[in-house]
Amino acid sequence: MKIAFTSCFSATVFPQQPVWKQILALKPDALVLTGDSIYIDELTHPTHPKAMADFEFFQFVAAKYRRQLAQPDFAALIAAVPTYAIWDDHDFLWNESYEEKAIQKKVYAGLIRASRALFNAYCAHLEGRQRFPDDDSDARLWDANEPAPGYRQVILDVPNGAPVHLHLTDGRSWRVNRTLLGSVQRTEIEAAMGAAPVGTLHLVASGSVVEAHKGDQWGNFEDLAWLRELANKYCIACLSGDIHANDFHRIPTENGRMVYDFTSSGAAIRRAIWAGTDCENFGLMEIDAATLRGQWIRFGQPGALTPVTIDRLSWQMQA
Ligand SMILES: [Fe+2]
Repeated sequence: MKIAFTSCFSATVFPQQPVWKQILALKPDALVLTGDSIYIDELTHPTHPKAMADFEFFQFVAAKYRRQLAQPDFAALIAAVPTYAIWDDHDFLWNESYEEKAIQKKVYAGLIRASRALFNAYCAHLEGRQRFPDDDSDARLWDANEPAPGYRQVILDVPNGAPVHLHLTDGRSWRVNRTLLGSVQRTEIEAAMGAAPVGTLHLVASGSVVEAHKGDQWGNFEDLAWLRELANKYCIACLSGDIHANDFHRIPTENGRMVYDFTSSGAAIRRAIWAGTDCENFGLMEIDAATLRGQWIRFGQPGALTPVTIDRLSWQMQA
């Protein structure tokens, strides 16, 4: 089975998004979008979203989702390939919303309700459950108690092999201080992994990378120790985004086990969102009964990163 993954795209910054045609040509079995499907805080707009009234914010964000869903190459891809998304800071609220503890501020409750409703509707559209409403007054977008996207598990079938378990995390709704996912979500993930057959491959979709040299990463949170603990028992590979580049990291546990972090970010954006060089990145993971192989594509060509092969039984990289 083939899983394409990428993140970070804006139909405003990049109306032409050739990356989706490139992905479709590879005929993946699934597409995983690991955050920033829209940029709520594009500074080309005169008003920062945090200064908008609730309904103005709602209309502004809804228009962004409709514009992305109408992007022809994106629409063709999601119509052909089962697609799953998680959110990151720019489709949750805005850059630095974690630093200002926005999830704890009452003044942002209406904006968060709107972003939840619109992101949940976007996911329903991607998964073919329900079309994204054309009308801003659609009652489906106005639940006063709209739930956070939260954690979800998707089981992907592998021909002639055991299914792969895809864990869609919500890394924004409970991120505060040193907590990334929150205890409820961590308990749900642990229970799901514990219930899976021994040797199951677990793909954890995360907006933030696990470890890097700077910026957002699991390494800033107590959740990294929890993840490494899980990796002592289970085969865990992360699919991450955020950094507007392709990347790969191995994070060892104290028992010599590994968490592998496959990052692909910058599907259709610039390095600094609206400035800097263009990005046109995605990753492709091919999984069979024996191995997991990851590779990265940049501007339609194999990128500078060397493809990675991991033996599923030993959970070690092959030379
Ligand atoms: Fe991004």
